[in-house]
Amino acid sequence: MDLILKKITKAYGKQTVLDDISHVFSNGIYGLLGANGAGKSTLLNIICGVIKPTSGNVYFDEKIIDSNLQFYYSNLGFLPQIFNYYPQFTGLEFLVYIGMLKGLSKKAAKDKGISLLSLVGLNNVEHKRINSYSGGMKQRLGIAQSLINDPKILILDEPTVGLDPEERVRFRNVISSLSNNKIIILSTHIVSDVEYIADEILILKDGKFKEKGTAENLLSTIKNSVWEFTQKGKTSIQSLSNFTLVNKKNTPEGIIFRVISNKKPNEQAKKVDPTLEDLYLYYFSNERLSR
Ligand SMILES: Nc1ncnc2c1ncn2[C@@H]1O[C@H](COP(=O)(O)OP(=O)(O)OP(=O)(O)O)[C@@H](O)[C@H]1O
Ligand SMILES: [Mg+2]
Repeated sequence: MDLILKKITKAYGKQTVLDDISHVFSNGIYGLLGANGAGKSTLLNIICGVIKPTSGNVYFDEKIIDSNLQFYYSNLGFLPQIFNYYPQFTGLEFLVYIGMLKGLSKKAAKDKGISLLSLVGLNNVEHKRINSYSGGMKQRLGIAQSLINDPKILILDEPTVGLDPEERVRFRNVISSLSNNKIIILSTHIVSDVEYIADEILILKDGKFKEKGTAENLLSTIKNSVWEFTQKGKTSIQSLSNFTLVNKKNTPEGIIFRVISNKKPNEQAKKVDPTLEDLYLYYFSNERLSR
């Protein structure tokens, strides 16, 4: 059962945030990468039926989602960017509540809630009130609630915000293990969140998917554009305005620059293998390069 976007446009007044986007999502993990304000949340909210597009439609199982929202919601899990919870509930009570709202029996919701709390590493605090949870713990509870109905479509808007590195790794492993029979779309601006787990990365810019493909495909598009060179002592280098600076590192041998440039920036520069972080900067931090 595919999830299909057909010619989705969203405008707020004169600002067109999404501009005629079409895409087919099959089972797998999709990483939606975009800068602040690129329109990631707008798109995910449209996919979840929370906001209406100005034009275009979302289809699931070949039907417009609005034609049977109840069926659609029984197949959907959603972690919004701003996640509301009931602070007086314990983690487990909250999951039972959400599970019952989604049509599970109390017993089924409790069983599922307990296993999900363990999946996200909150089993030791399941009977503590949510207002005593840290930010990262609340975020993990948000991830757990999105999975309560074992959804076919899982939409996660910046799910790793507030997670420490260990929890980030746990999150990636959990998501990977779920991806066989689900469509998982997650938005982020942290490239390492999607580098290893996304089957397809979608780069949202200027209202469109500027690029789409595997991490490998996307990296190959900039394989001739990432350079490193060392500036020794006071020797001046070519003006920095000709390229995007990725990194500048002081070492005893001099300052090592890592830059993105469509042309070799200077005589001693050496081409290096690109990373997804370079790719992100290529798209989002530099208007000078002609693309
Ligand atoms: N209800 C609204 N009314 C008017 N403009 C809006 C509304 N919601 C979003 N926008 C605008 O639409 C654009 C896209 O916003 P959106 O929240 O989708 O971006 P985002 O990619 O999720 O950003 P972030 O990374 O900061 O979460 C922004 O310019 C935002 O100001
Ligand atoms: Mg957002």
